[in-house]
Amino acid sequence: MLSVEKVCKSYHKGGLFSRKTLAVLKHISFEMCRGECLGIIGESGSGKSTLSRLILGIEKPGSGQVLYDGRNVTDPGVRRGKISAVFQDYTSSFNPNYTVYEAIIEPMIMIERRNRKSLTTRAVSLLTQVGLDGSYLEKYPHELSGGEAQRVCIARAVSTTPALLVLDEVVSSIDVSIQVQILDLFYTLKKEMDMSYIFITHDIQAAAYLCDRVLFFYDGSIVEESPVMELYKVRNEYAKKLLGSVISV
Ligand SMILES: Nc1ncnc2c1ncn2[C@@H]1O[C@H](COP(=O)(O)OP(=O)(O)OP(=O)(O)O)[C@@H](O)[C@H]1O
Ligand SMILES: [Mg+2]
Repeated sequence: MLSVEKVCKSYHKGGLFSRKTLAVLKHISFEMCRGECLGIIGESGSGKSTLSRLILGIEKPGSGQVLYDGRNVTDPGVRRGKISAVFQDYTSSFNPNYTVYEAIIEPMIMIERRNRKSLTTRAVSLLTQVGLDGSYLEKYPHELSGGEAQRVCIARAVSTTPALLVLDEVVSSIDVSIQVQILDLFYTLKKEMDMSYIFITHDIQAAAYLCDRVLFFYDGSIVEESPVMELYKVRNEYAKKLLGSVISV
């Protein structure tokens, strides 16, 4: 379904007129199939969010390509209604002039016509699934805590059950008890709607809970790839170090 092929990305380093560049992604390649949940684990600055922007087609790779069902994701028609995301920086992904209700229904009305009553019912049901309730509908983003705003973004992203959902560090700002509820929601949608996820996280336990396979990122490269059931077999030192803090490898 998703094919990332020899993707490289560099950014300018220093001032606007500086010629120095920083290679953030170095020849990244992997494939993903429908219904799969792929975890991406790596330390801060290793290029995870950059990769998610390339998969969403918001930025273009310096070289290489990202294909969805064989077509380049930089074409908006390819990803519309099919690939969606919840970003790490949720404050910027939620329009400050929208109420929670407006934010949640926006993607739904873009793909199908529904009456207001059925939209409200659906919005309340989505809010309940992320551990909030109907009393949040009329609130604005500045009236929400960080974790609540993040949960509204999750409700909005799953509302149209896109085929592929990119989740960039989405559970870390949420209470542990609700984290499990949200991971269960992702798991149910994966089973029932055959949704696929790219689950970017620092939290190896959350990745192990939800993912089928995990990629370890280090300094812009994939240094290890492993099915979740075989994590104890990893050989790369960095992956071992990360895992060693949770299980004995
Ligand atoms: N638009 C940009 N312009 C210049 N440099 C950038 C830009 N976006 C990212 N970078 C740099 O690219 C590197 C990778 O950033 P990225 O946000 O992808 O890391 P990350 O793995 O998501 O980190 P974190 O776990 O902290 O979210 C960093 O060194 C960052 O400073
Ligand atoms: Mg990031």
